[in-house]
Amino acid sequence: MSASAHMPYFIKPSQPLSAQEKVLAYQQILSEFKILCTAEDSTTVKMVTINSLIKTHLPYAYWVGFYIWTGTLLEVGPYQGTLGCIYIEQGRGVCGKAAATKKTQLVADCHALAQGTDHIACDPNSQSEIVVPVLDEHGGLLGVLDLDSSLKESFDHIDQRYLEELVTFIG
Ligand code: SME
Repeated sequence: MSASAHMPYFIKPSQPLSAQEKVLAYQQILSEFKILCTAEDSTTVKMVTINSLIKTHLPYAYWVGFYIWTGTLLEVGPYQGTLGCIYIEQGRGVCGKAAATKKTQLVADCHALAQGTDHIACDPNSQSEIVVPVLDEHGGLLGVLDLDSSLKESFDHIDQRYLEELVTFIG
């Protein structure tokens, strides 16, 4: 299926937040997540709750979701947004690089990367992204959390700091 620039009725273009607004939004996300999921064992419940809270509080999160590590590749997991890629090989695209290195990837301009290798464009509206590895308590790879924005340069060290904290509750 070819990607389309058309945004479905339930998707809005991204809107930026100031650094101060970002911190407040992430504090709200963490606080609500802890209230909702402190006693939660289900990984799926935690993932869908994180997606919903991010979509609710971060107006620049055009696409948010998880890819699950199967042991051989990344398979799409819970997400909110336009149709995502279904499978991603380790090392391919931004998600694949985060999985291979177990390091957060910050991309200011997705379209500046080599398409098909360094970046996989599921939706051409995605302009910038951050991908955070999700690890278990032994440092093993469980998957990645991917946020895309329809604006360039949406993600920074504030997103990295809070998203890395948030995914520790998955493992
Ligand atoms: N852009 C990602 C692929 C996943 S979609 O954005 C949902 C990448 O290059 O890893």
